[in-house]
Amino acid sequence: MRGLILSGGKGTRLRPLTYTGAKQLVPVANKPVLWYGLEAMVKAGVTEIGIVISPETGDEIQQVTGTGDRFGAELTYIRQDHPSGLAHAVKSSQDFLENSPFVMYLGDNLICDDLDRFIEQFKAESLDALILLRQVKNPRAFGVAEVDEQGKVLRLVEKPQNPPSNLALVGVYFFSPQIHESIAQIQPSARGELEITDAIQHLIDGQHAVQAEELKGWWLDTGKKDDMLEANRILLDERCELSFQGTKDDQTHLVGRVEVGKDSQLTRCSVRGPVMIGRNCILEDCFIGPYSSIADGAVLRGVDIEHSVILEGAIVEGIDSRIVDSLIGRRAKLSRAPSQPKAYRFLLGDDSHIEIP
Ligand code: DAU
Repeated sequence: MRGLILSGGKGTRLRPLTYTGAKQLVPVANKPVLWYGLEAMVKAGVTEIGIVISPETGDEIQQVTGTGDRFGAELTYIRQDHPSGLAHAVKSSQDFLENSPFVMYLGDNLICDDLDRFIEQFKAESLDALILLRQVKNPRAFGVAEVDEQGKVLRLVEKPQNPPSNLALVGVYFFSPQIHESIAQIQPSARGELEITDAIQHLIDGQHAVQAEELKGWWLDTGKKDDMLEANRILLDERCELSFQGTKDDQTHLVGRVEVGKDSQLTRCSVRGPVMIGRNCILEDCFIGPYSSIADGAVLRGVDIEHSVILEGAIVEGIDSRIVDSLIGRRAKLSRAPSQPKAYRFLLGDDSHIEIP
């Protein structure tokens, strides 16, 4: 079995962060989203993995993720010239996939469950497709499935106006090579993409073995800011461990599960876990509340922050009010104006969001 991770596409929903970087590299609990899928595959024994990348963000993904040695995987990067849909991404990967069955993981998705149970079921039942479903409140935002009581899939529709159920298609799929023949038969959808949903529907129409499993554990699609914060909250809850590799003075107090990376310095800070602080960070006179992740090289002085994600190299200084539910991009600078305390001064990128009291 091979693995395919889809990390191309445009990432418009996470703008402005994705103007300058790939959305699959935005960190959850200080680790790029796409690495979770990669690690889940390796854990399930799938080590020959293709990563679909776009011309715009592919180099960065390749540079950050590397050859796969650190994951125990052999990675092949596959360039998709245009984001023409998930089925198009599979089509672009045919040379890599050859005639092998494969597990496909969308690079902005995360699931709680291990993959081995699904791989076993896929093999044992000789399926052509095994798809995962999860009940959601907003099915219009996803591919949606209609299934009978035995879990047999009757119909799939992509982002329907009138959803036939509240069962969304999770971005993790298991396919036999039969999927390539279906992809060769389908036409682009109304949004101009070759949809994997249509290819699976084609398998169903051709009486091929398609089965669905409903996920009970969490599933996160990190497409938007609040999804990212939720993913961060859940991952910190589950995976944050007590570990301190930095330095701190005796006025710094750490409570609960707090991870601090190498060469980070904490002075007069109070940190209440679960919190992850990366390497080479400087924190002075701060309160860092639960469910916050601070990436490498961030500098925080005189800041009270909670349930937020601060990306690499960001600087936040002297903010009077508590910062909550926030996502602050790489190298962003947020500070108090020294001369006119009552005035705000902004230099905001396109699509930025600021809320002030
Ligand atoms: O998140 C689950 C949903 O993912 C499913 O319910 C939908 O059925 C499925 O179509 C997909 O919908 P999205 O609109 O969320 O897909 P998105 O465009 O965000 O792309 C998902 C991942 O695949 C993302 O990491 C980018 C990558 N991608 C996307 C396209 C369109 C590619 O690598 N190539 C592409 O051409």
